[in-house]
Amino acid sequence: MLAKCPVCLRKTIHPLLTVALLLSTAACSNNTNTTTGFWEEMRADVAVNNGPSRTGKQVYDYRCKSCHARNTQGAPMPGDEYEWRQRVQKGMDVLMEHTINGYQRTLMPARGGCLDCNDTELRNAVLYMLSKSGIELNNQD
Ligand code: HEC
Repeated sequence: MLAKCPVCLRKTIHPLLTVALLLSTAACSNNTNTTTGFWEEMRADVAVNNGPSRTGKQVYDYRCKSCHARNTQGAPMPGDEYEWRQRVQKGMDVLMEHTINGYQRTLMPARGGCLDCNDTELRNAVLYMLSKSGIELNNQD
Protein backbone atom coordinates (compact mmCIF):
# COMPACT_ATOMS: atom_id res chain seq x y z
CA MET A 1 0.00 0.00 0.00
CA LEU A 2 2.65 2.46 1.10
CA ALA A 3 4.92 1.61 -1.81
CA LYS A 4 2.17 2.36 -4.29
CA CYS A 5 1.39 5.76 -2.89
CA PRO A 6 3.94 7.93 -4.73
CA VAL A 7 2.75 6.43 -8.00
CA CYS A 8 -0.93 7.05 -7.40
CA LEU A 9 -0.13 10.52 -6.09
CA ARG A 10 1.74 11.33 -9.26
CA LYS A 11 -1.16 10.03 -11.33
CA THR A 12 -3.69 12.27 -9.62
CA ILE A 13 -1.43 15.34 -9.34
CA HIS A 14 -0.24 15.34 -12.93
CA PRO A 15 -3.64 15.99 -14.58
CA LEU A 16 -4.39 18.57 -11.93
CA LEU A 17 -1.16 20.41 -12.72
CA THR A 18 -1.96 20.35 -16.41
CA VAL A 19 -5.37 21.86 -15.77
CA ALA A 20 -3.87 24.50 -13.49
CA LEU A 21 -1.30 25.38 -16.14
CA LEU A 22 -3.94 25.68 -18.84
CA LEU A 23 -6.05 27.87 -16.60
CA SER A 24 -3.16 30.17 -15.77
CA THR A 25 -2.12 30.62 -19.42
CA ALA A 26 -5.75 31.28 -20.29
CA ALA A 27 -5.83 33.94 -17.58
CA CYS A 28 -2.68 35.54 -19.00
CA SER A 29 -3.97 35.73 -22.52
CA ASN A 30 -7.00 37.66 -21.28
CA ASN A 31 -4.66 40.33 -20.02
CA THR A 32 -3.39 41.73 -23.32
CA ASN A 33 -5.50 44.86 -23.02
CA THR A 34 -4.16 45.88 -19.65
CA THR A 35 -0.42 45.26 -19.96
CA THR A 36 1.72 46.52 -22.80
CA GLY A 37 5.38 45.55 -22.84
CA PHE A 38 8.04 48.18 -23.41
CA TRP A 39 9.13 46.72 -26.74
CA GLU A 40 5.58 46.33 -27.94
CA GLU A 41 5.05 49.99 -27.14
CA MET A 42 8.28 50.98 -28.92
CA ARG A 43 7.25 49.14 -32.07
CA ALA A 44 3.65 50.33 -32.09
CA ASP A 45 2.40 52.18 -35.12
CA VAL A 46 1.57 55.55 -33.60
CA ALA A 47 0.49 58.65 -35.52
CA VAL A 48 2.95 61.53 -35.13
CA ASN A 49 1.42 64.75 -33.88
CA ASN A 50 1.03 67.13 -36.81
CA GLY A 51 -1.05 69.65 -34.90
CA PRO A 52 0.35 72.51 -32.85
CA SER A 53 3.60 71.51 -31.16
CA ARG A 54 3.54 70.85 -27.45
CA THR A 55 5.92 72.82 -25.27
CA GLY A 56 9.16 71.39 -23.92
CA LYS A 57 7.67 71.10 -20.46
CA GLN A 58 4.60 69.24 -21.74
CA VAL A 59 6.71 66.74 -23.67
CA TYR A 60 9.15 66.39 -20.78
CA ASP A 61 6.34 65.69 -18.30
CA TYR A 62 4.66 63.32 -20.77
CA ARG A 63 7.62 61.10 -21.68
CA CYS A 64 11.11 62.18 -20.67
CA LYS A 65 10.48 62.65 -16.97
CA SER A 66 10.07 58.95 -16.24
CA CYS A 67 13.85 58.53 -16.68
CA HIS A 68 15.30 62.04 -16.65
CA ALA A 69 13.70 63.15 -13.38
CA ARG A 70 15.44 60.42 -11.41
CA ASN A 71 18.63 59.68 -13.23
CA THR A 72 17.38 56.28 -14.42
CA GLN A 73 20.24 54.37 -16.08
CA GLY A 74 22.27 57.58 -15.88
CA ALA A 75 19.76 59.84 -17.68
CA PRO A 76 21.00 63.41 -17.09
CA MET A 77 18.62 65.33 -14.84
CA PRO A 78 17.34 68.79 -15.71
CA GLY A 79 19.09 71.10 -13.27
CA ASP A 80 22.35 69.15 -13.45
CA GLU A 81 24.31 71.91 -15.12
CA TYR A 82 27.62 70.04 -15.14
CA GLU A 83 26.15 67.00 -16.93
CA TRP A 84 24.31 69.04 -19.53
CA ARG A 85 27.27 71.34 -20.21
CA GLN A 86 29.35 68.26 -21.06
CA ARG A 87 26.66 67.00 -23.39
CA VAL A 88 25.81 70.26 -25.10
CA GLN A 89 29.46 70.61 -26.13
CA LYS A 90 28.77 67.94 -28.75
CA GLY A 91 26.47 70.46 -30.41
CA MET A 92 22.70 70.57 -30.65
CA ASP A 93 22.73 68.56 -33.90
CA VAL A 94 24.37 65.61 -32.17
CA LEU A 95 22.04 65.86 -29.17
CA MET A 96 19.06 65.82 -31.51
CA GLU A 97 20.47 62.93 -33.51
CA HIS A 98 20.82 60.97 -30.25
CA THR A 99 17.32 61.96 -29.16
CA ILE A 100 15.70 60.95 -32.43
CA ASN A 101 17.57 57.71 -33.08
CA GLY A 102 18.34 56.67 -29.52
CA TYR A 103 21.69 56.58 -27.79
CA GLN A 104 23.84 54.01 -25.95
CA ARG A 105 21.92 51.13 -27.42
CA THR A 106 18.49 51.76 -25.97
CA LEU A 107 19.35 53.20 -22.58
CA MET A 108 18.13 56.41 -24.14
CA PRO A 109 15.34 55.07 -26.38
CA ALA A 110 14.66 56.46 -29.85
CA ARG A 111 12.52 59.61 -29.62
CA GLY A 112 12.81 59.35 -25.84
CA GLY A 113 10.00 56.85 -26.11
CA CYS A 114 7.62 59.51 -27.40
CA LEU A 115 6.49 57.99 -30.68
CA ASP A 116 3.79 60.58 -31.25
CA CYS A 117 6.22 63.48 -30.74
CA ASN A 118 7.34 65.36 -33.82
CA ASP A 119 10.95 66.59 -34.13
CA THR A 120 10.08 70.11 -33.02
CA GLU A 121 8.51 68.78 -29.85
CA LEU A 122 11.56 66.63 -29.11
CA ARG A 123 13.77 69.64 -29.63
CA ASN A 124 11.55 71.68 -27.31
CA ALA A 125 11.98 69.02 -24.64
CA VAL A 126 15.78 69.03 -25.00
CA LEU A 127 15.84 72.84 -24.85
CA TYR A 128 13.62 72.66 -21.76
CA MET A 129 16.03 70.31 -19.94
CA LEU A 130 18.96 72.52 -20.97
CA SER A 131 17.23 75.66 -19.79
CA LYS A 132 16.37 74.03 -16.44
CA SER A 133 20.12 73.45 -16.14
CA GLY A 134 20.89 77.11 -16.72
CA ILE A 135 21.85 76.64 -20.39
CA GLU A 136 19.98 78.89 -22.80
CA LEU A 137 20.54 78.26 -26.51
CA ASN A 138 19.13 80.47 -29.16
CA ASN A 139 17.18 78.57 -31.78
CA GLN A 140 19.99 78.66 -34.34
CA ASP A 141 22.34 76.50 -32.25
C1 HEC B 1 13.93 54.94 -20.74
C2 HEC B 1 14.59 56.08 -20.16
C3 HEC B 1 14.65 57.39 -20.91
C4 HEC B 1 13.60 58.14 -21.41
C5 HEC B 1 12.12 57.83 -21.35
C6 HEC B 1 14.21 59.31 -22.00
N1 HEC B 1 15.57 59.27 -21.88
FE1 HEC B 1 16.90 60.64 -22.60
N2 HEC B 1 18.45 59.55 -21.81
C7 HEC B 1 18.31 58.39 -21.09
C8 HEC B 1 19.63 57.94 -20.65
C9 HEC B 1 19.90 56.70 -19.82
C10 HEC B 1 20.54 58.89 -21.16
C11 HEC B 1 22.07 58.88 -20.96
C12 HEC B 1 22.73 57.91 -21.90
C13 HEC B 1 24.22 57.92 -21.69
O1 HEC B 1 24.84 58.98 -21.85
O2 HEC B 1 24.76 56.87 -21.37
C14 HEC B 1 19.77 59.88 -21.88
C15 HEC B 1 20.34 60.95 -22.55
C16 HEC B 1 19.63 61.93 -23.22
C17 HEC B 1 20.22 63.05 -23.93
C18 HEC B 1 21.70 63.34 -24.06
C19 HEC B 1 22.26 62.60 -25.25
C20 HEC B 1 23.74 62.86 -25.43
O3 HEC B 1 24.21 62.82 -26.58
O4 HEC B 1 24.47 63.07 -24.45
C21 HEC B 1 19.19 63.79 -24.45
C22 HEC B 1 19.30 65.05 -25.27
C23 HEC B 1 17.94 63.12 -24.06
N3 HEC B 1 18.25 61.99 -23.33
C24 HEC B 1 16.69 63.56 -24.39
C25 HEC B 1 15.50 62.92 -24.03
C26 HEC B 1 14.18 63.44 -24.35
C27 HEC B 1 13.91 64.71 -25.10
C28 HEC B 1 13.27 62.53 -23.84
C29 HEC B 1 11.77 62.59 -23.91
C30 HEC B 1 11.13 62.88 -25.18
C31 HEC B 1 14.04 61.45 -23.22
N4 HEC B 1 15.38 61.73 -23.34
C32 HEC B 1 13.48 60.32 -22.62
C33 HEC B 1 17.13 57.72 -20.80
C34 HEC B 1 15.87 58.12 -21.18
